[in-house]
Amino acid sequence: MGVPLSLLTKHRLPVSASWNPNFYIPAVPSRPLSDRECKRIIRDAGQASADAKAMNIDGVYLHGHEGYLLEQMTNPAFNRRILGHFTDWQTFGLEIVREIRKRVAADYPIMYRIDLSLALNATYGERMAKIAALRKFRHERQADETLQYMANLVKEGVDLFDVDLGCYENWWLPHPPNTVPSGVFLPVSRLVKQFFAENDIRSNAGLPVPVVAVGKLGYPDLAEKALRDGMCDMIMLARPLLADPEWANKAYAGRVGEICPCIGDQEACMNELYRGGHVKCAVNPRTGLEDVVPREVAAAAKPRRIAVVGAGPGGILAAITAAKRGHKVILYEAHGRLGGWLVPGSVPRTKYEIGNYLVYLEGQMERCSREHDLTVRLNTSVTAELLKSENFDALVVSTGAQPVRLAVEGAELPHVVQAVDLFLHPEWAKDAHDVTVVGGGTVGCEAAHWLAAEHGKQVSLVEMLPHFMKNVCTANRGHMIHELERRGVKLFNCARPTSIRPGEVTIARNISSTVPDPYITWAPILPDNIPNSLARAIREEIVEESLKADLIVVAAGLRADHSLFDACQAQNAASEISCIGDNFRIGHVFEAVEAGFNIGRSL
Ligand SMILES: Cc1cc2nc3c(=O)[nH]c(=O)nc-3n(C[C@H](O)[C@H](O)[C@H](O)COP(=O)(O)O)c2cc1C
Ligand code: SF4
Repeated sequence: MGVPLSLLTKHRLPVSASWNPNFYIPAVPSRPLSDRECKRIIRDAGQASADAKAMNIDGVYLHGHEGYLLEQMTNPAFNRRILGHFTDWQTFGLEIVREIRKRVAADYPIMYRIDLSLALNATYGERMAKIAALRKFRHERQADETLQYMANLVKEGVDLFDVDLGCYENWWLPHPPNTVPSGVFLPVSRLVKQFFAENDIRSNAGLPVPVVAVGKLGYPDLAEKALRDGMCDMIMLARPLLADPEWANKAYAGRVGEICPCIGDQEACMNELYRGGHVKCAVNPRTGLEDVVPREVAAAAKPRRIAVVGAGPGGILAAITAAKRGHKVILYEAHGRLGGWLVPGSVPRTKYEIGNYLVYLEGQMERCSREHDLTVRLNTSVTAELLKSENFDALVVSTGAQPVRLAVEGAELPHVVQAVDLFLHPEWAKDAHDVTVVGGGTVGCEAAHWLAAEHGKQVSLVEMLPHFMKNVCTANRGHMIHELERRGVKLFNCARPTSIRPGEVTIARNISSTVPDPYITWAPILPDNIPNSLARAIREEIVEESLKADLIVVAAGLRADHSLFDACQAQNAASEISCIGDNFRIGHVFEAVEAGFNIGRSL
């Protein structure tokens, strides 16, 4: 699992249980650890646990899932050793727990993260035998073997498990993105609980071993029901606490509507880490910055009159933050609903978390309007003249962006529509049978999936670049592509439309064998800031092809719309004028929220 940057700078082979490819750069092999090195790791884990206990840390948690080293040693998918002490895949795990128990004595909690199965065979089926990158891993640990191993781990001293499924090669399982249903692993924790109960498996303290459920449990009602129904004994939350660290307090106090929900985009948490940054959160601009951003915003030295134009997430955060500081704020929105692009973005069923976030933002807005001097004017378009005539002290322009139009022959025909418009007018697709979506970024892929899954269309998806959803978190990207394939959506990468006529679109496509297989979900795409000298160059072999298409859906990106900002500046509409969100630079919810919060804090 060595991360790409360290692989490319350390000039040493990473290590594993057997010869395994590195996940990020498969051309880099990981060498098997020697028995001596393994025994040293076991001893060190014992010492680290003794140190933890001496430092008053409440317990130790072993990371035995998702394909990291402990999992590699304890899963025959990765541990294919045929010689030495660790050929039995259980040995390393049992010995590490035995050593820790020996060093920390009887009553110190040892917890263990485990996956019931890597679920690779369930994910990839016949491909496990056909694809070289997967073939090595096909003899994965089966669920019944895992249960037996867990029983053995308890005998050695494990007190508690949390359990899920999957590994990096199907990363959307251990890191379930927005497209995965909530509480996805509850059946898995229930199965383990049943096994423990039926076999009367008890910890060293003679107690039933608690089973913790994890994965998209950030809904207090769902979490509580899971406990009441005996699906698990505890709930583990990761991202819901990055989104709202007050989750438990709010749930306990019954203030569930005030919980800021995780939207599952993994842009600011996983992807920031992956790009070499620092964990943040798309919906909580304080996350990861708690030491420099106070919990409560400071009151403004002098209340001012502020206009915010555009009620996307950036505008909303700017308006709320400024109003909480004591400013008199008016938020103008041209449409009838708050949310900007989040409104069409919440239409597909797979985007239910964006819908939740919208409801949360609306609730926050209503509360802030009640408690502070904040006025929301929906269905109100404003001009620079109007803003100037109102004599505001400061203007925040967050009017967002406009979709990019296709510059090809036939792009003006009536059966060519923008994806963001189609989400709001699904009736436009009513009579279409074959649909081509142009643009394989997140919006294009979501539109293609929505049309195939919810509207039963035959969908083709055309992308100019070698990869779909480039720069999106590998887990989110992988699941979307997996689902697109499952729904029969045809993916054309390194392809672009050249002309559109009624009933068809012509594309120019690179058919060279060096073009990457667009359906690969078991390997990541390295971020642009990590140069990979081992990457294969793509040759060009362009052919023209015609696709049947009664409807062409364009998702070719967004272009910032600066017109209002420019006019405000030209007319000196206020002494302070700022431009944030997509209006400044096209980005994610993450960037807009961060910008809105920061401008609201600084006005
Ligand atoms: C930024 C981030 C980093 C994570 N790193 C790890 C990790 O190093 N090891 C691990 O077992 N799980 C890791 N996880 C997974 C979480 O522990 C958790 O299993 C997963 O996010 C699903 O739970 P959730 O829906 O409550 O977030 C990470 C999750 C996030 C968001
Ligand atoms: S960045 Fe997105 S996925 Fe990650 S915790 Fe925040 S809202 Fe959830």
